[in-house]
Amino acid sequence: MHLTPFKLERYFAKYEFTARYLLCSSDCESLSVGDLLALEPGSEEALQRHWLGYTESVGAPSLRQEIAHIYTTVQPGQVLVHSGAEEAIFLFMHAVLQPGDHVVVHWPCYQSLFEVAKSADAEVTFWEARESTRWVLDLDELKRLLKPNTRAVVVNTPHNPTGYLMPHPDFLALNALCQEHGILLFCDEVYRELEYDPALRLPSACDVNPLAVSLGVMSKTYGLAGLRIGWIATRNADIYNRMAALKDYTTLCNSAPSEFLTELALRHRDQIAGRNLQIIADNLSLLDDFFARHADRFAWVRPKAGPIAFPHLLKGDVEIFCDELVHESGVLLLPGSMYDHPGNHFRVGFARKTMPSALAQLEQFLDQHTI
Ligand SMILES: Cc1ncc(COP(=O)(O)O)c(C=O)c1O
Repeated sequence: MHLTPFKLERYFAKYEFTARYLLCSSDCESLSVGDLLALEPGSEEALQRHWLGYTESVGAPSLRQEIAHIYTTVQPGQVLVHSGAEEAIFLFMHAVLQPGDHVVVHWPCYQSLFEVAKSADAEVTFWEARESTRWVLDLDELKRLLKPNTRAVVVNTPHNPTGYLMPHPDFLALNALCQEHGILLFCDEVYRELEYDPALRLPSACDVNPLAVSLGVMSKTYGLAGLRIGWIATRNADIYNRMAALKDYTTLCNSAPSEFLTELALRHRDQIAGRNLQIIADNLSLLDDFFARHADRFAWVRPKAGPIAFPHLLKGDVEIFCDELVHESGVLLLPGSMYDHPGNHFRVGFARKTMPSALAQLEQFLDQHTI
């Protein structure tokens, strides 16, 4: 198995814990263990009593029950808990794909969504989202990309890095198309519940399509990346069983304290997601003003959901721009080249409380550079 280095993660490894101002984080503001325990009386004592033996490989029954509440049709037995969304992506691709299979992947995207498919010797075709059409996914284009050996379609909505949210009719049509052709749909929903207009929230793919696999995680919407808990929800028993069998060779089971804290957090997920949406709303209005002031330097497609967007640097080379910015001002942006995207874009993240001061630093940098 060959895996190409994960460009974005290598970039973060270099700067995430040294840059003074993070302005491209893909997750929301986090909480401390104490903050979480304060959500429920008695939880601190319960955590102290929590047993540190092996946990059930598929996830604790009570945790799977809590996760199942996110969905409308899925039963706890149809939830498979993983160590982060990353493990679930890895297991899905390797459980499902054989050499010679074809996979269509929404692009640009989080690298593992196509890289792991390639490592399983599958043929990958990108279903490209373009800035010129506000990052819309064109279903007619997908129809042209499908082949007799297409095994899976992979989408991410709300989307990293553009903040694109698929319209409801398109989403239903996508699910119907996949079902019609017997193609698996892997739907990365790690930003679900961060829609700026709740009326635009999509159903989970697993609730509208019995072949689909929905991916969720604690890291993004809930800001609890350090728990390293993610999951898949699916009514597709064959895929569920294959992934569960493969998990015996990766993490086997999840961290017991993380499972405890995840269950606690999910009992309060509306409150946690609501706080994060408020941070996003406040910061997004700062960004709207910022991009209006700097329309000569950046093109801004306003996202519809999530904590990130993918603006376009109109003058200068984006890698050089990001490099100078982080070295001179300590502000971290993520160049689009880390997604292998050639369009001179960068990722901006705005779900952290420190975002206004990071943005002020960026503005000061711009004042000092004509680019
Ligand atoms: C779209 C998307 N899917 C999956 C992941 C992986 O999530 P985690 O790091 O919590 O495993 C990420 C992380 O950035 C992501 O952006």
